[in-house]
Amino acid sequence: MSKVYVFTDYGGPGTQQLIDRPVPEPGHEELAIEVRAAGVNPVDWKMREGRLGREWSLPAPMGREAAGVVIAVGDGIEGFAVGDEVLGLVAPGQGGLAEHTLLSASTAVAKPEEISFIDAATIPVAAATAYDATHQIELEPGQTLLLLGAGGGVGLMAAQIGRVHEFTVLGVAGAAKRGLVESTGAVFIESGSGVADRVREVAPKGVDLIVDLVGGDVLRSVADLVADPARIISAADPDAAVELGGRTLARTSEAMGKITEVIQYGLVDPHADTQYDLNDAGQAIAAVETGHAAGKVVVVPEG
Ligand SMILES: NC(=O)c1ccc[n+]([C@@H]2O[C@H](COP(=O)([O-])OP(=O)(O)OC[C@H]3O[C@@H](n4cnc5c(N)ncnc54)[C@H](OP(=O)(O)O)[C@@H]3O)[C@@H](O)[C@H]2O)c1
Repeated sequence: MSKVYVFTDYGGPGTQQLIDRPVPEPGHEELAIEVRAAGVNPVDWKMREGRLGREWSLPAPMGREAAGVVIAVGDGIEGFAVGDEVLGLVAPGQGGLAEHTLLSASTAVAKPEEISFIDAATIPVAAATAYDATHQIELEPGQTLLLLGAGGGVGLMAAQIGRVHEFTVLGVAGAAKRGLVESTGAVFIESGSGVADRVREVAPKGVDLIVDLVGGDVLRSVADLVADPARIISAADPDAAVELGGRTLARTSEAMGKITEVIQYGLVDPHADTQYDLNDAGQAIAAVETGHAAGKVVVVPEG
């Protein structure tokens, strides 16, 4: 048997629990892995709350991104074999917060040996999202990127990608994250009331792009800082972005491979700063559910 963290009903965290299941067997174009680390993302609790629909069968395994060692390959697979170290998106209905899981092979990439399993587990959702968010509209070196939620899992990576491209990154986050945000090379802007004025102080002519990882009134309060509202991209609140004339973040299939190379070469750091044992997966999800996580939260099954 194999442990997996699930929720048994839609709603709050009260029905989350660690259960046993048979080691999953890979279907068509799936890889079975022994999980070495799994990333936790806001999507995990949003799914549990039913915000993304209620069509998952219960109990529903949690966790969308994982890294591990291939233990079996399904049919239709080329390029992967038992024993390979890989990272990727977890196959629908499987869950990454587990001792073993299935990856969709089309989303899996080989884990370079320079990248730890813990860092690798942050790539499929968070780092790849940061890659897409900073490439959907390409800025020129020296142009200004305003990043809302710069201290979170996606934000810290997006800020570093901005530095690699020589953008001027203005990173909005809570006061406790000043050092973390500044460590990426970004200019720290404290979140909260008056944030637009604080941005104007350092960017009197406005900004060239807003990447939003927070949404709602925070996004609305700064939207005027970009001359062309089409240069608002939101991963957090597509409705607000569209209402303001901006766009929903578009995800691409190449992002995962591209950002894996950037991490492999040491140009950016995934900031997998908070790790929990699989037995404490509930605490890991709670840490992300506060909405104020610093960097990435990762769950590691017992060795
Ligand atoms: N569409 C996609 O494919 C996709 C993929 C990944 C993520 N997302 C979405 O993108 C968002 C960010 O994801 P994530 O993984 O980075 O989440 P996260 O790790 O929880 O980070 C969110 C960050 O938002 C900041 N924040 C919260 N309230 C704020 C406020 N009022 N003003 C400024 N910053 C604030 C928090 O920092 P402070 O503590 O400093 O406030 C926190 O660091 C989520 O909504 C997630 O669902 C979408």
